Amino acid sequence: MTSADYTLHGAVAVIRLDNAPVNTLSASVRKGIAEGLERAADTESVSAVVLTGAGSNFCGGADVTEFGTPQMRAAPDLHDLLDLVEGFGKPVIAALNGTALGGGLELAMCCHYRVALSSAPLGLPEVKLGLLPGAGGTQRLPRLAGAERALNMIVSGNPVNARELAQTALLDRVVDADVVAAAVTLAANADGKLPLKKARDISVVLPNAEAFFDFARGAIAPLAKHYPAPAKCIDAVEAAVLKPFEEGMKIEAAAFAELLQGTVSKALRHVFFATRAASKVPDVPSGTATRPIRSVAVIGAGTMGGGIAMNFANAGLRVTVLETAQAALDKGLGVVKKNYESTLKKGRLTPAQFEERLALIGGTLSYDDIADADLVIEAVFEDMGVKKQVFETLDRKAKVGAILASNTSTLDLDQIAAVTQRPQDVVGLHFFSPANVTKLLEIVRGAKTAKDVLATALAVAKQIKKIGVVAGVCDGFIGNRMLNAYFRQMGFLLDAGALPQQIDRALENFGFAMGPFRVADLAGNDIGWAIRKRLYLEHPDKPFSRIPDRICELGRFGQKTGAGWYDYKPGERAAIPSETVTKIVLEESERLGLQRRKVSDEEIVERALYSLINEGARILEEGVASRSSDIDIVYIAGYGFPDFRGGPMFYADTVGLANIVRAMRGFAKGYRPDAWKPAPLLQRLVAENRGFASWGKSS
Ligand SMILES: NC(=O)c1ccc[n+]([C@@H]2O[C@H](COP(=O)([O-])OP(=O)(O)OC[C@H]3O[C@@H](n4cnc5c(N)ncnc54)[C@H](O)[C@@H]3O)[C@@H](O)[C@H]2O)c1
Repeated sequence: MTSADYTLHGAVAVIRLDNAPVNTLSASVRKGIAEGLERAADTESVSAVVLTGAGSNFCGGADVTEFGTPQMRAAPDLHDLLDLVEGFGKPVIAALNGTALGGGLELAMCCHYRVALSSAPLGLPEVKLGLLPGAGGTQRLPRLAGAERALNMIVSGNPVNARELAQTALLDRVVDADVVAAAVTLAANADGKLPLKKARDISVVLPNAEAFFDFARGAIAPLAKHYPAPAKCIDAVEAAVLKPFEEGMKIEAAAFAELLQGTVSKALRHVFFATRAASKVPDVPSGTATRPIRSVAVIGAGTMGGGIAMNFANAGLRVTVLETAQAALDKGLGVVKKNYESTLKKGRLTPAQFEERLALIGGTLSYDDIADADLVIEAVFEDMGVKKQVFETLDRKAKVGAILASNTSTLDLDQIAAVTQRPQDVVGLHFFSPANVTKLLEIVRGAKTAKDVLATALAVAKQIKKIGVVAGVCDGFIGNRMLNAYFRQMGFLLDAGALPQQIDRALENFGFAMGPFRVADLAGNDIGWAIRKRLYLEHPDKPFSRIPDRICELGRFGQKTGAGWYDYKPGERAAIPSETVTKIVLEESERLGLQRRKVSDEEIVERALYSLINEGARILEEGVASRSSDIDIVYIAGYGFPDFRGGPMFYADTVGLANIVRAMRGFAKGYRPDAWKPAPLLQRLVAENRGFASWGKSS
């Protein structure tokens, strides 16, 4: 099967890549292009070839699903195809009718001419997958667009609109419509005399090359500690400037091969696929009909309610926020306005957009005003009584078929659903603070949640630009359940010998955006305290460090009270190690009769990660998450886990589950051994010599 069609426009052959949705260069597309070229070569009356894409994309690049499969090498492979195009005996003109990314742009750069639609985004995003453009992109783009522009595009991975590249040799013509016709005209007007221009023949002129590349290396230095690709991109572009084309191609190929084998690119590619996989729920077919969501209501205008409302206004949907009292409503909507004002001041919203968004958010004290909402999201106090009361009212007032969602972080969704006559319409939509910013949306599936409600929740996540991950009902769902296990371990480490700032530093060096204590100070220590108080009652035998409670007993709730695990200067966010906290930590060790010991950063990382992984294994085994990659996405999108490590479960597979269990058994010989019982699934996978990635596929 081939996926490129061939038509004649007078003496010009048009080959159109056709592989929905973005015309990636799968084996069948490559074959289709090669066959089209062969036909054009064999047809004497054909004077030139135009390459274009079906639909609104030119080509989205290599087909990443073929990575590591025999399809990737199927003839012609990408390199052979590009050689074929560049070395073709008749002029080949790329008609860039839309997005040209990665291998798509590399293909276009092998053509002898390029005509583009002015709005077409052109880019080389490989760096985002921990790679560099490996099919000549690092050598041809500097020759066509200049070293500086090429370096920016390659190191950032961000696309640039064709109109911004109109003055460069990358584009021979930029048009606002009819790009294929413009390409055909370009060929036809030349009357068969278009010279075969090749990017490889151009020399890049860059007077201060040494200083330029020094500067570029300095600029990416902070990133380079964890991400090897940007530095390799710079090396390759430098080669394009300083070395002959063929030598540069070898440097690019060697760097590509090295990055492809490296853990970071593997992790980033895993995250890419995991993000896509998260939107698929095993027993909810992809074609499941969704319910139309045109208007939304949010109950509660507190910290979360306001941010949740903003998401919908940002997506152009009308939102009504309901409160119990006018003062609370005014306060909540006031915060929303302030947030938009600050975005406006930063220039990230136009005045018209600012007005538009504010106009989409209304307030009310009456349920009658939200009776027509298609989706209602409750974000009131974390109290079962209050939530039940809200859902009883919603059951009476909301229209038939409305989706009733709760933003609860810990409460049993099934109990909430049970107070309604329509538990099938109830779902958890767990946003993370700040709700208008954090990418993660945990979608909690109750025992009775209908499949179309779940499918709609996943569609809503996309609509508001969140990454939706489905979780089952349990204490803390996926994210907070793991966080609680991890935070508990960090408490024990304080008892044993570490200090908060050391733990934070070790985990930040590992790659976390913030260590657990800085996070806790940001989120509010009172939240964790309330959860622990409940756990003390529910699990009286389960030990916890007393230190977090003692911090809270002093009212040190974090940044909002000016003190928490750290001290803060008024109005500032810089975390200053606290003598008060150190004193409490030392007192607790003494009270427990523990001789404080030196804890290495390596041990901190192991205990933190292995506690997350062990709880993740339980979550997986219980079916609370349907695949280990969903857990990875929860941690990356919601908890600042480093993407270059691929998420906790992917990381576990890279460390080796047997090594993890061995380390856990070692920890179990020390203080608080109960916390180090390997989850049954972990033990089973070790016995079967498997990793988490295989779980669910053949189990
Ligand atoms: N704060 C967080 O970081 C966070 C993160 C995720 C989820 N959550 C969850 O979101 C929910 C709200 O948390 P929050 O931090 O926004 O709380 P909050 O205290 O800031 O806001 C709650 C708001 O709900 C209003 N309210 C209370 N009862 C109401 C009722 N019967 N009808 C209408 N409004 C009512 C209150 O007036 C208040 O404005 C909780 O379930 C919480 O667990 C919070």
